[in-house]
Amino acid sequence: EKGTHPHYMLKEIDEQPLVMRKIIQKYQDNDGELAIDGTIIDAIKAADRIYIIAAGTSYHAGLIGKQLIESMAKIPVEVHISSEFGYNMPLLSEKPLFVFISQSGETADSRAVLVQVKEMGHPALTITNVPGSTLSREADFTLLLHAGPEIAVASTKAYTAQLAVLAIVAEVAAKSRGVEIGFDLVKELGIVANAMEVLCDLKEIIEHIAREFLTVTRNAFFIGRAVDYYVSLEAALKLKEISYIQAEGFAGGELKHGTIALIEEGTPVIALSTQEKVNLSIRGNVKEVAARGAYPCIISMKGLEQDEDSFVLPAVHEQLTPLISVIPLQLLAYYAALHRGCDVDKPRNLAKSVTVE
Ligand code: F6R
Repeated sequence: EKGTHPHYMLKEIDEQPLVMRKIIQKYQDNDGELAIDGTIIDAIKAADRIYIIAAGTSYHAGLIGKQLIESMAKIPVEVHISSEFGYNMPLLSEKPLFVFISQSGETADSRAVLVQVKEMGHPALTITNVPGSTLSREADFTLLLHAGPEIAVASTKAYTAQLAVLAIVAEVAAKSRGVEIGFDLVKELGIVANAMEVLCDLKEIIEHIAREFLTVTRNAFFIGRAVDYYVSLEAALKLKEISYIQAEGFAGGELKHGTIALIEEGTPVIALSTQEKVNLSIRGNVKEVAARGAYPCIISMKGLEQDEDSFVLPAVHEQLTPLISVIPLQLLAYYAALHRGCDVDKPRNLAKSVTVE
């Protein structure tokens, strides 16, 4: 039931701090240590490479999962779009572990890959929100998102839940391999949950930004570098699917290799800056597009902010910024769709789970 919320999407955005706390609790053992099933740890330890397979928003979560697992656990990871995997099957390592990320657990494109790799005899883990779903039943192992039912077609709380579970997998994998990650993930995820709460209380500012930047435009660009690039892909997907604004996410450095030709007087460019190492370069990209008439909106993280920024995110651990930077971008898509009179929870041409290939 959506209760007092006008839309499921807004309710689900607001549930994210709660989901975060639930995930921390569900994945803690009696000693307060993060833990997952021993058989899954064994499968990760036995693997020489992880192949993440997913579609849409779950694919975007996978891109960030790769960063988390590689930097924390030092295991090589590849991420593949489910529907493309069959055509461009990569040369597999000797001991691959397949990880399927799927909110619904029913995505036909992902299932097709699962069937294929099971036939080849490889182990598979499904990370899903739906216990007993097809992908969960057919894989060897399952990790649950514990996000509660997601009703709105546009995925929000499942995405941040996927990121949290992937971070936990990375931490547990690191621990099992004797790799020191250098921070306390339980504590940092708690800080993330608090930051999410702060962000959910700042809706008016985001509504204002949506009105200013996205009420009449035909298109919009999101730019970022490093993990901010992956979040910008997700921000663009959210915006296009519910507001029908043509939106694209770009790596800041790629702009000059073609895309900058699209910038016109008044084109909205939303730039994300949550990483110290890219703060100056992304601001350089903002200057480039602004000089060509773009209308820039900078969303930065506390500690990196400058006077011209439109929105400043509360600080969280630098590896976990996608968990919170996506929230104003989800809200931006929501308010843009609302202002443009779109059906937020049931966008045209889309279904909640895509069970055809
Ligand atoms: C976008 C969205 C879709 C899904 C995709 C995969 O908001 O919801 O892009 O992420 O269809 O679905 P699952 O995760 O159920 O496999």
